[in-house]
Amino acid sequence: MKNVLKSQEEVDRWEEAMFLYDSALKKMKLKAEMMNDEFVHRYRYNPIEHIKARLKTADSIVRKLQQDGYEVTIDNMETKLSDIAGVRIICSFTSDIYQIADVIGRQEDITVLYVKDFIRHPKPNGYKSYHMVVSVPIFLSDSRRNVKVEVQIRSVAMDFWASLEHKIAYKFEGDPPEALLRDLKACADMVDMLDNKMYSLNEAILAISEEKRKHWE
Ligand code: GTP
Ligand code: MG
Repeated sequence: MKNVLKSQEEVDRWEEAMFLYDSALKKMKLKAEMMNDEFVHRYRYNPIEHIKARLKTADSIVRKLQQDGYEVTIDNMETKLSDIAGVRIICSFTSDIYQIADVIGRQEDITVLYVKDFIRHPKPNGYKSYHMVVSVPIFLSDSRRNVKVEVQIRSVAMDFWASLEHKIAYKFEGDPPEALLRDLKACADMVDMLDNKMYSLNEAILAISEEKRKHWE
C-alpha cells in the first residue's frame, strides 16, 4: 500500500484510516469481552471461549482490491472492503452464537450494516460461520467517525474446520485436489454432528443441575 501512496497527504490519510480501524477493532473486542463478563457475572456462564482481533495488512489490502478488480486507492479500501478490522468470536455452542449476535445487534452505539448467516446457509465447501458487518463510532477530539468492522461468530468446531480449510486453500492456491475437498466436506458434516451432540449433552447437564437445585430448595 505504502508504495501506491503518491503524496504526503495520501500517506497521512492512510495513517489516519488505519488508526481509525485499529480503534474500532479495540472497541469491538472490548465490547465482546464485556458481554462475556456480564454473562459470567449474571448467570455464571461464559458463552465466549475466546476472541481474536486482527487488522488486515497493507499487502492483503492491496491484493484483495486487485483481486476484486478495483483500483488500489484509499477511497476504494474504505468503501469496497469490509474486513480491514476483523474480530472473531469463538463460542462453545451454536445457541451462544445467536445470543451474542443478538446482543451485538442491540448495542445502541453499533449499527449492523449487514449479516451473512453461513450457519443456516453454509457455503458449498462446508464453511459455517455467522458474519456481521457493523459500523462503530469513534469519537475523536473534534469529530465522530463511523468505522466498519467485520465480526465473525462461530463455534470451536467451526473454527477448527475453517482454519484447516484456509491452510489447504492457501497451500494449493485455491485449487486443491478433489479428494481433499470431499474429505473437507465430510469433516464439515462431522462438525455439524459434533456441535449438535455437544449442545444436547450440555442441555442434558443443565437440566440435571436444575432438577438438583429444585430438589434442594
Ligand atoms: P471475501 O471472501 O473477503 O471476498 O468477502 P465476501 O464478500 O465473500 O464475504 P464472506 O462473508 O464470504 O467472507 C469474508 C471472510 O469470511 C473471509 O475473509 C474469510 O475470513 C471468511 N471465509 C469466507 N468463506 C470462507 C471459506 O470458505 N473458508 C474459510 N476458511 N474462510 C472463509
Ligand atoms: Mg468470500
